[in-house]
Amino acid sequence: MAKIPNTVFSLRHFLVLSLALNVSFILRMFYDGEVGHNNSSLNRAKANNNVHKSRVVMSSTSSLKNSTCKDLTGSKNRIINLDHGDPTVYERFWRQTGDKSTIIIPGWQSMSYFSDVSNICWFLEAEFAKEVVRLHRVVGNAVTEGRHIVVGTGSSQLFLAALYALSPNHASQPINVVCASPYYSSYPSMTDYLKSGLYKWAGDADSYEKDGPYIELVTSPNNPDGHVRKSKVNRSQGLLVHDLAYYWPQYTPISSPSDHDLTLFTVSKSTGHAGMRIGWALVKDKEVAKKMTKFIELNTIGVSKDSQLRAAKILSAVSDSCEQENSKENESFFKFSHKVMANRWKQLREVVHHSELFSLSQFSPAFCNFFNRVLEPQPAFVWLKCEGNVEDCESFLRAHNIITRSGKHFGVSPKYVRISLLDTDENFTQFLDRLSTIQSL
Ligand SMILES: Cc1ncc(COP(=O)(O)O)c(C=O)c1O
Repeated sequence: MAKIPNTVFSLRHFLVLSLALNVSFILRMFYDGEVGHNNSSLNRAKANNNVHKSRVVMSSTSSLKNSTCKDLTGSKNRIINLDHGDPTVYERFWRQTGDKSTIIIPGWQSMSYFSDVSNICWFLEAEFAKEVVRLHRVVGNAVTEGRHIVVGTGSSQLFLAALYALSPNHASQPINVVCASPYYSSYPSMTDYLKSGLYKWAGDADSYEKDGPYIELVTSPNNPDGHVRKSKVNRSQGLLVHDLAYYWPQYTPISSPSDHDLTLFTVSKSTGHAGMRIGWALVKDKEVAKKMTKFIELNTIGVSKDSQLRAAKILSAVSDSCEQENSKENESFFKFSHKVMANRWKQLREVVHHSELFSLSQFSPAFCNFFNRVLEPQPAFVWLKCEGNVEDCESFLRAHNIITRSGKHFGVSPKYVRISLLDTDENFTQFLDRLSTIQSL
């Protein structure tokens, strides 16, 4: 008899423990990958400042962020997390568009796995493909003729699909994957995460000297430093993946339509809809497109149709806004986003100009075919250098409650940090205020 309550008691304990573990697992997931590279520094800063955990977790949704952080606004103790490139900066534009960017999906729709079995990418929604082609035509940033479109759950999934598709089938060694530093911090971890026998991370393309086939990642404009790039290795056996997540008019002059073998784009940085998890690849070679499709089939049996339909509506609203732009009420998405970024860069340069502690990259202006004038690049990230004796810029800024991502994650010196310029107005303003008050070590 005495054993029964004991068993019940321990079962209850087990259930509570399991619930606690699940909750902590979900919270951890928020901070993995690009979304939470700076996990440990965030935790340390949180502990230092007694910021309640739920407040920080909620900060990934901008509307919640605004309401939950109000009590701390203005306080020096408030943590400003600019580690990840969460593109909430464009929310204001999308709020104004109302029905023009809204879709309703009835319960009976999007039920089948299949979209068009006659297409290589059999889960690609025709409406989405149509709007991808239209937007590239409107913006002039990519050739779509003679390309297969492969849709992915974000360009992150397409990145892995591309590595899979470009790796030789029966090689004795994994193919080397390189990118010139500073490179997007997720590339090394995404490449090696599953310890694939097909491909492996081989570091900085600038110092890559091995013979034989290799895959080079070309990010242009580059994350983290915003510079326009071309391939570095330039040997005959190189297979190139062009990640053009930021080749949009708000970030860089559109000089010509990109025309590569395999190019990745994403709604995350173009329209700011990172939560939709939609990216697309423009692929010249039919066999490569087939293999990428196979990867996604094995990985997630296609890509959410609901998201594709929503993405189609968003892309169509962007193209409409460009084509119908003639009055002030009808400001195009790119005019809006370009203005926001220009404003942020102007304010930032002013603050940094008055500081001896920090410096910024300089960019050359170029002619933008989209805006039809010469413009300066205005990247999505600030690549900030701590001058003088500060060797670890991330820790230095963390001591001022600004969370950034150290240069060491991008394959370079910790004197550099990457800071997102895509966050809310509130966070950006706070960041500038904070930066301007840091006068000495
Ligand atoms: C260069 C680059 N490529 C790809 C991605 C990931 O994009 P997605 O949200 O479509 O997976 C990012 C996100 O920050 C990025 O900076």
